[in-house]
Amino acid sequence: MDKIKKIINKKKKSKIVCLTAYSKNIAEEVDKHVDIVLVGDSLGSVLYNYSSTKKVTLTEMINHSKSVRMGIKKSLMVVDMPFKTYSTKSLALKNSKKILKETKCDAVKLEGGKRVIEQIKFLIKNKIPVMGHIGLLPQSTKKFKSKGKTNSEIKNLISDAMLLQESGVFAIVLECVKSEIAKLITQKLNIPTIGIGSSVYCDGQVLVTDDLIGLNHTNIKFVKRFSNVKKYINVGIRKYASDVRKKKYPTKKYSY
Ligand code: KIV
Repeated sequence: MDKIKKIINKKKKSKIVCLTAYSKNIAEEVDKHVDIVLVGDSLGSVLYNYSSTKKVTLTEMINHSKSVRMGIKKSLMVVDMPFKTYSTKSLALKNSKKILKETKCDAVKLEGGKRVIEQIKFLIKNKIPVMGHIGLLPQSTKKFKSKGKTNSEIKNLISDAMLLQESGVFAIVLECVKSEIAKLITQKLNIPTIGIGSSVYCDGQVLVTDDLIGLNHTNIKFVKRFSNVKKYINVGIRKYASDVRKKKYPTKKYSY
């Protein structure tokens, strides 16, 4: 069975685990534990301190994805299409083909529902697997607040989710969607929902790896820090610096 079918089949059976990776070394560790590795354009803020993911370029996404590809053995690899690389059908096809060809990823992710539905249908018609993304859309929002509070937001979220499913996406990320609405959408769809800040009712979860391992500091409500790798990094670096200063390193063993 292909990797995408496996993900769809997990719906109602077992949770789908998804995490981001921006480089080979992190991808190698993430791949051991997840179903989907996402090269998210969140790398713009996490690695480059960009004020918005709008600044992330196609070249940056491709270069990071090439590195990530080397670290993945089993998981499905999805790459975010950056802002303005899918504003028209032809641009979306040209750029998604480039991403797939150069990075050897399995699928691309686009932000939006109705607004980008023609592009998504066109990609799927051309055999490009697509993951959807609705709710809070970092590429087009200035205000980072939850979605699904007003009647019109709820109506739009549900109709976007249904439209995306009809267009043939294999899963949909729900970002910062109110719990009850995420639950409703998850129940209505035959394809999986992957939540981020959208409750346990989603079929799967995604987080930015750097956030959950404590490599990147953030105060976002939905981020739980599961470990503190900075502590371990510091142990090694402090010891190295001290050994160099005390002339304990390099000994003969480490010298030619
Ligand atoms: O850019 C990203 O990392 C994402 C997820 C966190 C959903 O889109």
